[in-house]
Amino acid sequence: MKLTYVSESTSFCDVKDGESIADALLKLGVSHDAPCGGNGKCGKCRVLCEGEVSVPDDEEKNVLGKLINDGYRLACKAKICGDVTVYGKTDDDCTVQNSDLAIPDGVVCVDLGTTYITAAKNCDGITRFYTFKNPQSVYGADVISRVSSSEDHLDEMSACVKKRLCDLVPDFEKSKKIISANTVMQLIYDKKSPASLGYYPYESPDLFGYEKDGITYMPCIGGFVGGDVVSGLFYALYTGKITEKTALYIDIGTNGETVLIHNGRMLSCAMAAGPCFEGAGLECGMRAQKGAVSAVKEENGKLSVSVIGDTKATGICGSGIVSIISHFLKTGKLSVSGLLEKEKVFITDDVYITRKDIRSLQGAKAAIGAGISVLCKRMGIVKSDIDAVYIAGTFGEYLDKEAAVSIGLLPDLECKTLGNCSLFGACLCAQDESVFDKICTFARKIEYIELSDDDEFTDEYINASFFE
Ligand code: FES
Repeated sequence: MKLTYVSESTSFCDVKDGESIADALLKLGVSHDAPCGGNGKCGKCRVLCEGEVSVPDDEEKNVLGKLINDGYRLACKAKICGDVTVYGKTDDDCTVQNSDLAIPDGVVCVDLGTTYITAAKNCDGITRFYTFKNPQSVYGADVISRVSSSEDHLDEMSACVKKRLCDLVPDFEKSKKIISANTVMQLIYDKKSPASLGYYPYESPDLFGYEKDGITYMPCIGGFVGGDVVSGLFYALYTGKITEKTALYIDIGTNGETVLIHNGRMLSCAMAAGPCFEGAGLECGMRAQKGAVSAVKEENGKLSVSVIGDTKATGICGSGIVSIISHFLKTGKLSVSGLLEKEKVFITDDVYITRKDIRSLQGAKAAIGAGISVLCKRMGIVKSDIDAVYIAGTFGEYLDKEAAVSIGLLPDLECKTLGNCSLFGACLCAQDESVFDKICTFARKIEYIELSDDDEFTDEYINASFFE
């Protein structure tokens, strides 16, 4: 039997009786969000399909509501019983941008994020950045769900990322690769089980920092502070972007990691921020790209929205949700304890925010705030001793820093953005082979704090969960 996937082009694959639509689509390199880990709870994997598929159970009917009458099914739940056609989605988009960052021929640098992947490649003298969704999203939204999914799907999880890179990045297979990613992503890419990161003391079977079979893996600090942080922080210090004696480096992606630098000492920790700042896990969440609400403000008594690409709003990205929360706090729609006035509040005709979205962001904000407080205590300083805060990753690009401070996400200090410095660090290695050894030496100087071992973390988390 056969699955036909109709998008901008049409593709096919052979399928087995009883195979889920999600698994079959993955063979074609098509992935979708699966914040519930494929358990039929979140509804994010819904697809429009026709043909011979299993009868939906009550749970699937509940999640899909009226959509089931229009032919929608949950890809994680619907089983294939004969030929089936699935109609296109847009999650398999890839954005290609030119960069003035020069890298040599024959090398691909990859920032392998939990939610998004960006690969840099020199194509005919021009460096191009290819950004696309991590196809592993089908196995869960955050690193913890990926760890548990890898128990049964390690090979497929590694293969789907490689296939997507091969499909999208010219000559990927025969190029030398430099991978910069969090520890879990590096382990899965290398087909090593990250199972030990699912339980205390969360130790990784490998901290990398070597080259193997033409692939260079950035060194990791611990189970949840990975090569992407090392690469990004090294880039920021090496290129003189960070010069202060006391500075805070924060990478807010699907996971949150931070490093406090004070008089040459570096203390790091990871915070379970979840994927909401990357727009994942929110009902109308999306990446910071065309169509995403990036900020809101009140104008003549009406809510006005800034949309990336000056187009119709199709969702909300991380900076958008920060701005919305700040606005709701000012206007009394949201209490400091995090209660939204209604179950769902519309920002535009189609885009809205829910109480559940607010709770996700509240948990993420609390984790980040508590992590920063613990690092300061261990370093023997207070937050006001920090000279500047550096934000790594795309989250900082559109962030209204005043709004981030007003909701208590960032300390009230000078904030600067660094962009995708995990990728830039990998590009430094491509430009100069001696840099990789320097990065490995640098990594050994970063100390790692496991927050679950810290007695004060819970109190700090509770304090930081209020929006003030
Ligand atoms: S319902 Fe959550 S992934 Fe299918």
